[in-house]
Order: sequence, then structure tokens, then C-alpha cells
Amino acid sequence: MRSLRNEIIPILSETMLRLEIGEPDWLDLIGNATDLSHGDIALPCHSLSKILRKSPNEIADDISSDLNLRLLDIATTSSINGFVNFKATNSWLSDRVSIINSDFKLGVEIEDKKTIIIDYSSPNVAKRMHVGHLRSTVIGDALARILTYKGHQVIGENHIGDWGTPFGMLIEHFLECDHIDVGDIDLTDFYKDARYKFDNSEDFANRSRERVVKLQSKESETIELWKELVDISLLHFNEVYRMLNVLLNDDNLAGESIYDELLPEVVQRLDDQGLIVESNGAMVVFPEGWVNRENEPLPLIIRKGDGGYNYATSDLACIINRVEKIGGTEFLYVVGAEQSQHFDMVFQVARQANFMDNSIKSVHIPFGLVVGTDGKKLASRDGEAISLKDLLEESIIRADKSILEKNPGMKESERKEISKMIGIGSVKYADLSVDRNKNYVFDWDKMLSFDGNTAPYLQYAHARICSIFRKASIYKDSFENTEIQITNVNEASLCRVLIRFSESIDDAINNYAPHRLAVYLHKLAQEFASFYENCPVLVYDSESTMNNRLALCSLTARTLSTGLNLLGIDSPERM
Ligand code: ARG
Repeated sequence: MRSLRNEIIPILSETMLRLEIGEPDWLDLIGNATDLSHGDIALPCHSLSKILRKSPNEIADDISSDLNLRLLDIATTSSINGFVNFKATNSWLSDRVSIINSDFKLGVEIEDKKTIIIDYSSPNVAKRMHVGHLRSTVIGDALARILTYKGHQVIGENHIGDWGTPFGMLIEHFLECDHIDVGDIDLTDFYKDARYKFDNSEDFANRSRERVVKLQSKESETIELWKELVDISLLHFNEVYRMLNVLLNDDNLAGESIYDELLPEVVQRLDDQGLIVESNGAMVVFPEGWVNRENEPLPLIIRKGDGGYNYATSDLACIINRVEKIGGTEFLYVVGAEQSQHFDMVFQVARQANFMDNSIKSVHIPFGLVVGTDGKKLASRDGEAISLKDLLEESIIRADKSILEKNPGMKESERKEISKMIGIGSVKYADLSVDRNKNYVFDWDKMLSFDGNTAPYLQYAHARICSIFRKASIYKDSFENTEIQITNVNEASLCRVLIRFSESIDDAINNYAPHRLAVYLHKLAQEFASFYENCPVLVYDSESTMNNRLALCSLTARTLSTGLNLLGIDSPERM
């Protein structure tokens, strides 16, 4: 990638050679400047001070004066407080931003293409999706979009919980509700009711156990019932996916049930490697280094005493499938932080058993909780997990109200469309704009606000640009090959942000952190606001200034909408 850093390094190398500073001592020090008024990138010289026995200031001075003449039209340098600062020249910026403007990928290039499998959403059959699944769905979807845009082959897998011993009681309970029309079954209490019967009726519990045996032996009537139950749940999941506008559909289903046939083989292969140990009647593996609170070795349970397999066993089967059938090279699991230990142990055992070698990267991508404004885990008034569908519907209603206030003249049909984009976008952006490892506060007023780091703020910035073009009756996309000249400091500042789109994509990928892209987009929208405040765009007396600024507006709109789209968020043209 032609970044300022990459262009400066070879020239800086010569200077450093002359000053006898070894590459390992300086190369990793160069980074983005924190204070953009000083420069774009900076080289802190403090750690070189010991090596050269000079003050950081003196070193920075030496480097800067040696460089100044040789960076020519790329950048200027200055030495401040022991930092060498590099500031791109307007002509370099103008070159760079013009190249990006004429590139349909906005400067994003691929180096090595990988086959990446993302395991996300993964709710459980016969239960409602809750806000925890919202996080996995939204983060996984954003990662899938970003990695695809970068050029990787991405396979999304929805590892739904559709198999295992609870299905005995779920099917028995289902049978007892059989007079209800399938579409009408409410999943809110389904699991809980089944569990209650199981715990309180000996007869029901016995029937449930027999049902598990029938399910495991694939008895046809039982499989039919199981399928019906799965389908009811899928109806509900798909409804939420459609509302959320995520990429998942039935083609992405890869639930626990599909690995059932592979489970005996998993045990066999673990045993062949000498890893299986019997412990209290169960078959377990003791991965090295794991101990419980009593300092005893911690087992990964592979097969329980009653013959049933475990969650971990299907995840091992799943790894075998992803390596040997799909040929994936990177596996990402977007699952709550509470499952960290599970994944660490499963990955370790899979490597020990040679199910995957070191050429495969397997990463758990955890995330924190969604908490209410009271700081507690988000729940409804009666303490239950909040239904995702209700939540999304409420967001759309709230967005609709605020558009009605702001723009009472808008046609109702149009307003309905836009309130969906804003309502859904707000919920998704609130999730994606914070570091995923942190808990985030679910706060309606904040997420739907037109100010601050929110979806409506970014969407509005985009819509405002569209309105400039509408007002002037100029086609927004007719500036894609325009060479952009920089004539003042506001244009330069906007360009400095525009050229960093590709960097923000890499940053999001390297950290599996969509919020890095969100932070970038917010910065871009802010920078655009100050550009627009200071630089009139529709200046009809100077065609070249007008075209130049329209090109900047068009590129900003394109970057905002591309970025929002990578977060799975729509960009309306008016609001
Ligand atoms: N169904 C699980 C749950 O809701 C998540 C599954 C995550 N994926 C996996 N391969 N284990 O907790």
C-alpha cells in the first residue's frame, strides 16, 4: 500500500544508516502522530537516546535536518520534543486522494487471500434469541463484510444449538402442545416449560429420556418432530436476521446436529492419539496446563457416563470438518467471553490431536455484555432476557418519531423506509462502535441521537452530502475520476482522513474489531463537518473550486456509505 509511512521508510533508512542507527532500533517506532497539527506520522527518539548517548531532542534535530532536503515533495519534517514529525505535502496528499477517488475499492488492496470461516450468531433451537445473540450476529456480520471487502473468501457458519439431550424433553413438550399451529408457538417460555415438566414429572422425564434414545438412533417419527421444532425456531431466527439486515440465511446453517455422525470418529481419533482417559465413568481429555480451583487437572469431557456426547465434542468434530472438508485456513468464533475457557481448551486439544496444525489460525473473538442504563445486564422489567425482535421494533418506532419531528413534511412511505434504516442502524452501531471486549450500555437516547458517535450522526452526514448534489442537480457519482487539488488547510485536513480508509480496514481486521472502522467513520464525518463549515461548495463563480470541492464531497459520501455498509448499516440519501 502506498502510505506515507511506506514512502518515507526507504528515505529515512539512508539517513539512519548515515547516523549509524540500526534498523531494529527505529523501524517499529514510526507510527501515526497523535497530534495531527504537528504531522501525520511521527518517530519518537526517546528510546534511541540511550543507544546514541544524546538527548532525544538532539537526535530528532539531526534526523530532521538530514532528511529535510531529501523528502522533497513527499513530506516536510520538524523536530519537536524529541519527536521527528512528518507532514505530508499538499501535492502528495492531492496525488494520493486522487488515486483513491478513481479506485472503486477506495484504496483497499489484498495481499494474501485466505479462506476464513466465521462462526457467529449461533442461537439455540427452541429458545428465543436474546441480546447476547445480537452482539454475536452484528459483530460477526460486520467482520464477514469487512473481510470479504478486503478480498478474502469468507464462509459464515451459524452453529445453532440443535442437538443433544435437551431435545428429548423439548420434543416431548412439543408433542403436548401439538394442537397449536406451528407458527403460533411462542418460544419465550418453551424451554422453561419443558424444563419444569422434566424436573417435576417422573413420567415426563422418563419419556424424555426414551425420546433422546430415539433421536440418537434417528427413528423416523422422532426426526420428523425434531425437524418441525427446528423449523419453528428458524422461522423466528430468520425473521430477526431479515430485520437486522444481516447476511445470514439458511445456507449458513451448520448446527451441532450435522456433526453427530462424526462424533464416534472424534473419540476414536483422540483415542488413537492416546489422549482419552476414563474419569468417573466418562471419557475425557486432560489438556496440559489446565487445573481447577483445587489444583487438580481439568478435563475436557468428550463422552459422558450415559453415552451422550458433549458441546466440546461437536466443536472438535466441527474443527475436523472445517479443516478437512472445507479447507479453511482461519477460523473465527464470535461468541461471548464466558465461553473463553471452552474454546481455549477445544483449540488446544484439537492441536494436540492433530486435527489442525499450526498453519491454521483459530481465534475466539469474545465480547462483553449489553447492560442497561442501571449498569446491570440488560433485562426486561420482570428480569427476563429481552426479546430481540421487540427491541428492534421499538428502535424503529423511536427513529420514526424523531424523523417526524425533524422533517414533518416527509412522505409517510419514505419516512417508514428511513426509520427502519435509522432504527436498525442505531442499534447495530451502538454495538459496533465500542471496543467489543467492553460491556456496553444500551441507552435509547444516546444511540438514536443525531449528535455524537452514533449511526444517525453518520447517516446524516451522508444524507447532507447527497442533498448538496440534489440542490445543485448534479450527479454525485460523476466525480470519480476528478483529480483533487488541495488549496487550503480545511481541504487538506479532510484529505488526510479520506486517504486513511484502507488503513482503518486493516486495523479493524488485524484486531477483529469493527469499532476501529466505526471510529474512523466518525472522525471522517466530523472532519467533513468542519470542511463544510469553512469551505463553501457551490461556488458558481469558480468552476474549478466547485468541482474540486464537489469531488471531495462525493468521495466523502462514498467512503461513508461504503464504511457503513461494511458495518451492515444503510445510508439513506435523505433524512
Ligand atoms: N449455541 C451456543 C450458545 O448459544 C453458541 C455456539 C457457538 N459456536 C460454537 N462453535 N461453539 O451459547
